[in-house]
Amino acid sequence: MDAKTGTQKQTGTITIGNKNWDFPIYKGTVGPDVIDIAKLYSETGMFTYDPGFTSTASCESKITYIDGDAGILLYRGYPIEQLAEHGDFLETCYLLLYGELPTAAQKADFDYRVTHHSMVHEQMMRFFQGFRRDAHPMAVMTGCMGALSAFYHDSTDITDPHQRMVASIRMIAKVPTLAAMAYKYSIGQPFVYPKNDLDYASNFLRMCFAVPAEEYKVNPVLARAMDRIFILHADHEQNASTSTVRLAGSSGANPFACIAAGCACLWGPAHGGANEAALNMLREIGTVDRIPEFVKRAKDPNDSFRLMGFGHRVYKNYDPRAKIMQKTCHEVLAELGIKDDPLLDVAMELEKVALRDEYFIEKKLYPNIDFYSGITLKAMGFPTTMFTVLFAVARTVGWIAQWKEMIEDPKQKIGRPRQLYTGATRRDYVPISRRK
Ligand code: CMC
Repeated sequence: MDAKTGTQKQTGTITIGNKNWDFPIYKGTVGPDVIDIAKLYSETGMFTYDPGFTSTASCESKITYIDGDAGILLYRGYPIEQLAEHGDFLETCYLLLYGELPTAAQKADFDYRVTHHSMVHEQMMRFFQGFRRDAHPMAVMTGCMGALSAFYHDSTDITDPHQRMVASIRMIAKVPTLAAMAYKYSIGQPFVYPKNDLDYASNFLRMCFAVPAEEYKVNPVLARAMDRIFILHADHEQNASTSTVRLAGSSGANPFACIAAGCACLWGPAHGGANEAALNMLREIGTVDRIPEFVKRAKDPNDSFRLMGFGHRVYKNYDPRAKIMQKTCHEVLAELGIKDDPLLDVAMELEKVALRDEYFIEKKLYPNIDFYSGITLKAMGFPTTMFTVLFAVARTVGWIAQWKEMIEDPKQKIGRPRQLYTGATRRDYVPISRRK
């Protein structure tokens, strides 16, 4: 096999009718083996059919590994718990982009490069003025991410490794600035420029919450929580938005356009929009005594209501990020002196009820990261409409790392799935006057 890391273990035989075909089986460094069916169509005339790609590996990757049954998440081999406990977000960015943890000198250089790219082109201010004030910040964010390619022409040549790296640094550096601008615009406050003597998370909090009329002092506990939230969301292997970025990138589109595509995909309530949906759901439940009614609805197959912040395509165990998020949530509430948050009471009771319920046990539905991130972000002062934007800030590095890996993969080709066609067969055009 030519899969760069694995070794070919064996072949698998597919039998259709009375004919057999052998296909290579590849073994990764960890995780399930894959059967390479790239030649299935040319050899058998059949496609595979896998809506939602539940059994399909779309690429080979060295970036992130998830064991959903065991509740394990590794970035480049390092457990998420260790990175969240001991590392910082820019160190995680370096790790995701370059494959190794940085030395002290590499870290200082990387921090410097990101910090010194955090301003956006002044003309972008005017770009913002075109949006309605009541626009959802994710709509603004998606538009602005795409618009970066109109401002930074000198880093859109994807065949040039230097330009690829410049575009990567630019996006990691500018995305918090754009996110803070989207927030400020939505509340009618002046934009706050980045400040280079602050770390990434502190700078972001300042750009969101400072006003020119008074001094803003960053709370280190909240900055650490923000940084940790960024680490937890930085990458998650081939999820919907990352696959969107890879697919967009496979056509040769520039990196800013690809990241904008990922941002658009992230917005959906089944993906990055779930933290906003989870908090709205906790608000709708309102009090602990109403939990049974909502749990009953979530279990009813005739009701489309789902418990937001529960369940995951890959995790069939406690989401490891949710545990860290729960701890961070308590730290933030303690720091802010919030003793009795009714939403937290509902969340903790709902978690208990669901974890004891046969339906959730049988379907292996556990709280995911979004269950506690909403309460934390709300306590920090962010409105719900900003939650997915914060997810996008953190996930930008994951999208970029995956996009770079794809571009640098010699096996890369344009993504082009096939289909099971069940529409009309050939028929002749009928002039409108003769149609019934
Ligand atoms: N509440 C009630 N029932 C659920 C839920 C839920 N949150 N999630 C899944 N189920 C049921 C579902 O109805 C199905 O039942 P049945 O087998 O009887 O048809 C079964 O569990 C399997 O669910 P599925 O929808 O087939 O699983 P999926 O892998 O396609 O969906 C999911 C995964 C995350 C979209 C889904 O669990 C969900 O909609 N959860 C709520 C939204 C959410 O919290 N999303 C955030 C994901 S984590 C952040 C991120 O990675 O973006």
